Amino acid sequence: MNIVLLGPPGAGKGTQARHLVETRGMVQLSTGDMLREAKDSGTSMGRRVAEVMARGELVTDEIVIGLIREKLEEGARGGFIFDGFPRTLSQADALGDLLAAEGQGLDAVIVLEVDDEALVQRIAARATCGTCGAVYNDLTRPIPEDGKCSECGASDFQRRADDTEEALRTRLLEYYKKTSPLIGYYHAKGLLARVDGMGEVDAVQAGIARALDD
Ligand code: AP5
Repeated sequence: MNIVLLGPPGAGKGTQARHLVETRGMVQLSTGDMLREAKDSGTSMGRRVAEVMARGELVTDEIVIGLIREKLEEGARGGFIFDGFPRTLSQADALGDLLAAEGQGLDAVIVLEVDDEALVQRIAARATCGTCGAVYNDLTRPIPEDGKCSECGASDFQRRADDTEEALRTRLLEYYKKTSPLIGYYHAKGLLARVDGMGEVDAVQAGIARALDD
């Protein structure tokens, strides 16, 4: 099964993708994570990407489609979770073409619906394990008292460079201008399922499971 997790910044895409990896053996393809890796590589492409991401703008379609193309060639027995990709109509068309070339397609597009106010609160409180990528939140899933990640035991927690108020405003604008049209696009293709992303993490997991099992 191949699925897309769609939703604004902070909607819980990464949190839910990690759960699907654990429970369904799927492979998470997060273009945000791939771009952060490229950024840390110190190449000139990495430096260009870092500046764009820090401002909260979208990286070019060409770069992200190239990253996804490479990963698709590796295959995934349990299917792919596209997390944060596609984000533009061109990326959505390219994903359809890339999957078709592999004799595959998309089975579902889950859009996580979360109020804008809650997004700002979630992002301001987010911390990520720099070793395994586990996502924490000062309010709902605090870093353990012993200062060690409960998933891998490391203690290098990070706050993202684009989790500032200014960058978040740009990220939200980019979402509403360029990514939200994908909701109509996938609805027209009969693939869209809306899931309430405002509940607790477990409740959202259950909503996604229901949508996928339907
Ligand atoms: P990316 O890394 O994809 O960031 P994003 O879309 O802005 O999403 P986030 O990672 O901020 O949030 P999330 O929905 O994964 O939420 P999370 O689970 O962490 O992209 C970053 C940048 O890379 C972009 O701005 C762009 O520059 C570039 N980029 C990436 N892909 C691109 C593409 N395809 N094209 C062009 N450019 C691209 O949760 C957030 C917080 O909330 C956490 O603290 C979590 O613990 C908490 N939380 C989660 N669920 C709940 C819940 N149900 N209740 C309470 N708290 C919750």
